[in-house]
Amino acid sequence: MTKPPAIIQDVHNAAAILQRGEILAVPTETVYGLAGDATRDKVVAKIYTAKGRPEFNPLIVHTSSLAAAEMLAEFTPLARRLAEKFWPGPLSLVLPLRAGAGIARLVTANLPTIALRVPAHPVIQQLLRQLPFPLAAPSANPSGRISPTSAQHVQDYFTVHNVAAILDGGPCQYGLESAIIDASGPVPRLLRLGSIARQELSAIAPNLTDAAGDGKITAPGMLLKHYAPRLRLRIGCDNANPGEALLAFGPDVPLGFAAVLNLSPTGDLTEAAANLYRHLHALDRPEKFSGIATMILPQTGLGEAITDRLRRAAAGSGG
Ligand code: TXA
Ligand code: MG
Repeated sequence: MTKPPAIIQDVHNAAAILQRGEILAVPTETVYGLAGDATRDKVVAKIYTAKGRPEFNPLIVHTSSLAAAEMLAEFTPLARRLAEKFWPGPLSLVLPLRAGAGIARLVTANLPTIALRVPAHPVIQQLLRQLPFPLAAPSANPSGRISPTSAQHVQDYFTVHNVAAILDGGPCQYGLESAIIDASGPVPRLLRLGSIARQELSAIAPNLTDAAGDGKITAPGMLLKHYAPRLRLRIGCDNANPGEALLAFGPDVPLGFAAVLNLSPTGDLTEAAANLYRHLHALDRPEKFSGIATMILPQTGLGEAITDRLRRAAAGSGG
């Protein structure tokens, strides 16, 4: 067996690894990312290889500040308002790539746009400020699997052959990926629901439209069949199949399940988002359970994004 990547705490050491052109798992407030120098195609290729990700699926580029992001893309007034409100934080903006930005073509999969985010987690902030280049970082899971919300999850997924090390930043505060808005055209489009509720985004971008229905290109990575556990996952359940584990929500939990983990016993959707991937990781045990059932969640606040991920998990599960 090849060794798993080491979990490290030292940001200087992490910066040195990245400057050598290796890839490193990094903490963010949403999920852990698999990071590399966004200006070097050879490094970015290693990220795609480690994830087993199709190369047409572009990556998010992380910078330490709005000023650093403005070197890479053209900001409309609305994009700047969104950035000023939500950065640093769990929002990614798709914007026209600036000519001469120096970003590796593999990062954007040759699109004329780039997805940018300024993360808030203090550890990745410290790291970005020590580096002379921005970081390309998709979620640190093999393509199609559940996103990692702890250093341990990442360690379970990769070997030191693929990922040099994992920089530890503790459990992720939000536990759900960033919301993605395409602000490159006249009408902002919500490409992915995420750690910011739709209503909060609409307060800044009142004409925000849902990309799912408008027939244009959406985030290429938003195919159904993402975030898939190994076990078959059912959604909206109130009764158990034999041997099934339950991912519950709220105080009223149905009986008869082989095991129960509750996203939030008090019915708090922010807590539920933070627990979602952790609990899915814990229940995805084919040697123990026959499947995973999940309960219905309210469609307010982050409930919409959590349900979106569960639908995708259900579509890709069991195979
Ligand atoms: O919270 C997050 O966003 C995490 C952390 C690590 O920052 N990252 C993350 O990356 O979720 P990833 O690669 O798993 O998802 C990025 C999504 C994909 O669906 C991709 O297709 C989309 O962003 N994307 C990236 N660049 C794009 C572009 N130029 N146009 C449209 N979609 C883009
Ligand atoms: Mg992902």
